[in-house]
Amino acid sequence: MSLLPTRRPVTALALCVTALVLTGPAVAAPEPAGAPSAAALPYQDASLAVADRVDDLLSRMSLDDKLGQMTQIEKDALVPRSDLATYRIGSVLSGGDSTVSPNTAQTWADTYDSLQRTALTTPLGIPMIYGIDAVHGHNAVRGATIFPHNIGLGATRDPALVQSIGRAVAEEVSGTGIDWDFAPCLCVARDDRWGRTYESYGETPELPAAMTSFVTGLQGETLGAGPASVLATAKHFIGDGGTTGGVDQGDTRLSEAELRAVHLPPFKEAVRRGVGSVMLSYSSWNGVRSHANKYLVTEVLKGELGFTGFVVSDWAAVDQLDGQTGFTGAEIATAVNAGVDMVMVPNDYRKFLTLLRGEVTAGRVPQARIDDANRRVLTEKFRLGLFEKPLTDRSYTGTVGSAAHRSLARRAVGASQVLLKNEGGILPLPKSAKLFVAGKSADDIGNQSGGWTVGWQGRSGPVTDGTTVLQGIRATVTDPARITYDRYGNGIDPTYTAAVAVVGETPYAEGRGDRPNGLGLDQEDLQTLGRLKASGVPVVVVLVSGRPLDIAAQLPDWRALLAAWLPGTEGAGVSDVLFGDRAPTGRLPVTWMRSASQEPVNDGDGKTPLFPYGFGLTYGGTDPTPTPTPGACTAQFRTASSWQGGYQAEITVRNTGSAALTGWSVDWDLGGSTVSSLWNGSLTTAQGRATVRNTAFNGSLLPGATTSFGLTANGTAGAPAPHCSGT
Ligand code: GLC
Repeated sequence: MSLLPTRRPVTALALCVTALVLTGPAVAAPEPAGAPSAAALPYQDASLAVADRVDDLLSRMSLDDKLGQMTQIEKDALVPRSDLATYRIGSVLSGGDSTVSPNTAQTWADTYDSLQRTALTTPLGIPMIYGIDAVHGHNAVRGATIFPHNIGLGATRDPALVQSIGRAVAEEVSGTGIDWDFAPCLCVARDDRWGRTYESYGETPELPAAMTSFVTGLQGETLGAGPASVLATAKHFIGDGGTTGGVDQGDTRLSEAELRAVHLPPFKEAVRRGVGSVMLSYSSWNGVRSHANKYLVTEVLKGELGFTGFVVSDWAAVDQLDGQTGFTGAEIATAVNAGVDMVMVPNDYRKFLTLLRGEVTAGRVPQARIDDANRRVLTEKFRLGLFEKPLTDRSYTGTVGSAAHRSLARRAVGASQVLLKNEGGILPLPKSAKLFVAGKSADDIGNQSGGWTVGWQGRSGPVTDGTTVLQGIRATVTDPARITYDRYGNGIDPTYTAAVAVVGETPYAEGRGDRPNGLGLDQEDLQTLGRLKASGVPVVVVLVSGRPLDIAAQLPDWRALLAAWLPGTEGAGVSDVLFGDRAPTGRLPVTWMRSASQEPVNDGDGKTPLFPYGFGLTYGGTDPTPTPTPGACTAQFRTASSWQGGYQAEITVRNTGSAALTGWSVDWDLGGSTVSSLWNGSLTTAQGRATVRNTAFNGSLLPGATTSFGLTANGTAGAPAPHCSGT
């Protein structure tokens, strides 16, 4: 039984009712649920099974209690704060620009606790759950450790490292009280013109699928089982990275087989790992908005994949369904009936609750759907331990920006660097060299962190505490006095051993980062590079960007090119590689275009890129990773459905070896049945046996990663034991 006030005496209940009458809210006053007795009620008894606690709590909830649990609001939209209890609101979030003042971990924790105490004053004392985008560290909090954005983590090919990062992020998030992270983005970025390319671990389903290890880092092996467990979010379901032209929130035009082959595997893996929430995508599939797609959300995600957590909408995404501004009861009903369990409203919660209640009482949203949504949300709240420990665990507050986390981030930065050119072995640079450093991103924490950094769009400049690339260089070399820095390259002369130009993109997020009209360097960078070239000094380029850029024309002027991606606060990880304290081992997580006109350009599409997916040099010019030996793999056969005379099956292939697979084949005895259709693989049959090989999309599998293919067949499935062999 929690020592915290999980309920209030009748006076508080009367107070709530009074408040409702006084403020005249649009929704009817919640029917008093009846003050529970002082003794722990079943739902308050942590020794009971979660399902039993959910059943008991649901039985005590009024319709308003239930509608409130499906409502998520922006912290700053909550006016007055007591509305959190008055309207029984179950979740609060901080959007990209939502902050506290002063912006410190302590203030965030105090804010969280204050809101939670308000939530706990409701008759049933259901704790609220607070969500935030900690997408590359606890990036809303000034002073937090900012890790490389996902595209850089994809370059590491190291799921274990990503899991460790998830754990570190969970500790920093927990230290501010917050319980829910809208991460990882499992988008498969297929067109680099997309402004969210950097939020993707890579262009093939295997990389995001492998990096779902972040889910385990955040939640733990089991949600809520250990300290600092944070609810993870697999987002954005589905196909956000596959839109035509890379248009953010656009339309993904693919066959179902292609959608399943490219965009579904990461979510399948996240569900296997027990991810507690899934956020839907703004984008559409063949013209149907994901937020309105009952087949994808309810039949595929919840049915076929067996997702038992809850589905949350994206920010005001429901408003988009009818193409008009604002939201309507019809839009809400469409989204909730499609399978949305919690709506990120996020502002006008009174109107939302009025409309949702109207849809339920009119019978357009079945009560069973409301109960199912509540069951899912409450299950995660119970699993998370919120009823027992609703307030901040202050023992983690000190982990925010800790030396240990920054050390992990620096290691991740080093592992994410991809060496694309190293003419004459100019890298690694001698630490005694006389160097000229230039470029707008050489000494700029904001540029090296990118979007979602102490603000939604991020910004250039000293946005938070950390080490710039220049500071890393100065801290590494023998004599910092031999390092000259000028942002624009002014003052360079032939006496320098080399020039290091740190150039690329300034911060952006989401659609504001869409670049349909070219992906070249900006004028400042081109002018700076021109000055350096004119000096005759060898130029080493460090590209700080959220994606490949169109640099083929300038590349011949560069002796070396290091793709640094968006490294975050630990810029010293870049200098570790520049000076050889760490050899580059990163490999491209996305194909590097020969020109922007090639986009979309992806592995296996037959185009000739500047650098192929998976490319990366190390020192000595050899490939950074050993040639993978044929890896071990397993294939698991599951009969998805069967009928008289036929069946549908799904076969899951898992890389059980220690090296990445570049391809696989699975064979098994058909037992007299005959395959009538197959997706996500290529079939051959001989002597009653089936052999299925990978497609171009799902051939490469990192250690531990899975992919799957499906089939329909005539006859009976039996219980085959497929054999898998990897290459
Ligand atoms: C944004 C993003 C989503 C984020 C949400 C809350 O629009 O699409 O990734 O989690 O809103 O900030």
